[in-house]
Amino acid sequence: METKRLNEEELNTAVAILKADGLVAFPTETVYGLGANALSEKAVKRVFAVKGRPTDNPLIVHITGFNQVKTYVDNIHPLAEQLTEKYWPGPLTLVCQTKKDAFPAVVSAGLSTVSFRMPNNDKTLALLNASGLPLVGPSANTSGKPSPTSSEHVYHDLNGKIEGILEDGSTAIGVESTVLDISDPNQPPMILRPGAITKEQLEQDLGIEIAVDKHLIKESEAPKSPGMKYKHYSPDTRVMMIRENDWEKAIAAARQQALKVGVMAGPTIVNQVQQNVTTVFTYADDSVEAATKGLFAGLRALDETNPKLDVIYVATFPEKDLGVAYMNRLKKAADQQYFE
Ligand code: TXA
Ligand code: MG
Repeated sequence: METKRLNEEELNTAVAILKADGLVAFPTETVYGLGANALSEKAVKRVFAVKGRPTDNPLIVHITGFNQVKTYVDNIHPLAEQLTEKYWPGPLTLVCQTKKDAFPAVVSAGLSTVSFRMPNNDKTLALLNASGLPLVGPSANTSGKPSPTSSEHVYHDLNGKIEGILEDGSTAIGVESTVLDISDPNQPPMILRPGAITKEQLEQDLGIEIAVDKHLIKESEAPKSPGMKYKHYSPDTRVMMIRENDWEKAIAAARQQALKVGVMAGPTIVNQVQQNVTTVFTYADDSVEAATKGLFAGLRALDETNPKLDVIYVATFPEKDLGVAYMNRLKKAADQQYFE
């Protein structure tokens, strides 16, 4: 199958594909999503097949606002409307108790909850509005690979397997949305996956304490968000996390073993180390925002060098605010390995 690379003027083509149970990848502010009609079991099953995604990992349904939540959800959480007013469109996914048979069971892997998000991207909001369909949208990568932050990444993984890609530039945030469980109206919200809407921000805006799924603190606990248990975001090349004060030692160790090393870090660290490594991927600046935006693109780029690298060294950040989401994804890519 030919994968059509569609621009804004070709929105009608994208809509027609979706209505015929086809798949169209779409841009969002976090990562690109793999879109399909959430009401069509056939289309949703193809999403799982094309990604090679385990069928026990539920999908997020992309919608255009709180009105749609009201259509699909039973027992709406008292904070739901406030959360959507404050953060939608934006990188916050809400896990809700859905009405029976609102969606085919495959969407939520048989769970009684479904997660919803209104993405902050004009082209994708236009697509949602023009199609009038709720769209599932897992990250548009092959399962297990770093999530796609550009349409080239989507094309690389899914060319020939999906009907279309609605094209846009690189995504602004670079990691997937915060997943917040509000399925029990009698319980406070709980973060199942950290993202750009942070615990600190939610607590400040809502004036309540936000719980965090235990497994995010202690990796051995079983996650409530099924997708979090899989080894994720990993390139084929070994990835190692380097703490701020360990760069010199880490580079010396690699030189001693004659390893081909790639480095991912902000300009300050890159300037210190680049004479002594094979290649670098420099984040736009030294901030955690720039690192988060560049993380998946960097992992993909350094995984594809010719000749292959032996190891990718990646800068760590303090685990607060956006640093929680950055480190969550990086630890999975590195299989928890720090240079010690
Ligand atoms: O930013 C994002 O969220 C992107 C863009 C494309 O919107 N989408 C995304 O989808 O990251 P995906 O499928 O790669 O990740 C969805 C995550 C998984 O960890 C999944 O287990 C969790 O959300 N999830 C979905 N529905 C759930 C539910 N009903 N209960 C618990 N976790 C759920
Ligand atoms: Mg994903």
